Amino acid sequence: MGFEFITAPRIVFEWGAVKKLPGICAGLGKRCLVVTGGSSLRRSGVLDTLFEGLADNGVHVTRYDRASGEPTLQIVDAAVELGRSAGVDVVLGIGGGSAMDTAKAAAGVIPNAGSVRDYLEGVGTAKITANPLPFIAAPTTAGTGSEVTKNAVIMSKEDKFKVSIRDDRMMARVAVVDPELTVSVPPDVTAASGMDAICQLIESFTTALANPMCDALALYHTPRAMDALRRAYDDGGDRQARETMSLAAMVSGMCLANAGLGAAHGIGAGLGAVLGVLHGVACGMLLPHVIRYNAAHGVRKYAQLAPAVCGRHYANEEDGARAVADAVAELALYLKLPVSLRELGVTEANVDELAAASMGSSMKKNPVPFTLDECRDFILSLI
Ligand SMILES: [Fe+2]
Repeated sequence: MGFEFITAPRIVFEWGAVKKLPGICAGLGKRCLVVTGGSSLRRSGVLDTLFEGLADNGVHVTRYDRASGEPTLQIVDAAVELGRSAGVDVVLGIGGGSAMDTAKAAAGVIPNAGSVRDYLEGVGTAKITANPLPFIAAPTTAGTGSEVTKNAVIMSKEDKFKVSIRDDRMMARVAVVDPELTVSVPPDVTAASGMDAICQLIESFTTALANPMCDALALYHTPRAMDALRRAYDDGGDRQARETMSLAAMVSGMCLANAGLGAAHGIGAGLGAVLGVLHGVACGMLLPHVIRYNAAHGVRKYAQLAPAVCGRHYANEEDGARAVADAVAELALYLKLPVSLRELGVTEANVDELAAASMGSSMKKNPVPFTLDECRDFILSLI
């Protein structure tokens, strides 16, 4: 056995941690690009307090507040241009996965030449040579775990791709996880984000890169997250459930950064690129089917999750794996997430395009290899 494990060198996980951001930021730079997304954070007053704190700590702020929706080439390049022209020396991303990924990509590209497109896997050929700017990540949803991953997922609507810019040095210098920020997240976003985290925990558990570090994390956090997500969805003010989800989301990022993902994320990227399907919604819909497919092709490790997820041990491992898939499907149903590809807009007419857009890095790490034709057949079987 051999493996590597990389994560953020400093993690600050606590209620109210957001108050520590100004001091943390001041320790890393004096000119900060602050990347945010939608307006909910602005309305909450969190940003006003943050900007006051940064000013009090002598940090000059350049604000970029257009990181909503999935990060596109244009959104990231605009952040890069702004950061370059302002001469920033540190980047803070506070928001959902979009804000964090936009900030992370911008921190990587600003000190290097050109556009983010040049650095995207399978799209560009440039390499990040100059060290990325120090990057601080503060999630406001419990989902992507981007605060502890080394990649940012970028989409092109025109070219219909959704791929990563990735470099170990793009890992956040500090991950600041404050469950308080997730309390006001509405149920539909809670559901989609939470299913992304659960999908990341379960998919990373069965890849070829899975290792005992990640296994321990997935075995502990998957059942707890599946229980807490129901409670956080029913009652956004359930602080214990919110805390459990914030922790599970961060840990899911650790797992995916070190063990990779699988076909649910592969096809999820295709659905995002071709049909604009929200990432967590795609993950929740696809995961039970991917577990069943993999289990039918000999991947039995899912059964290890059954005692904690389903409350019983299965002598037959394939039965155990199927029971885990059923439990995930039940959860997605409870959260009122779409249950079929047709509901997401997939038809026989766009299946070829979808399959082609699904064959990225996550697909390659699925424990059962998929050819393009097999991917197409799998998608067809789910319509
Ligand atoms: Fe994900």
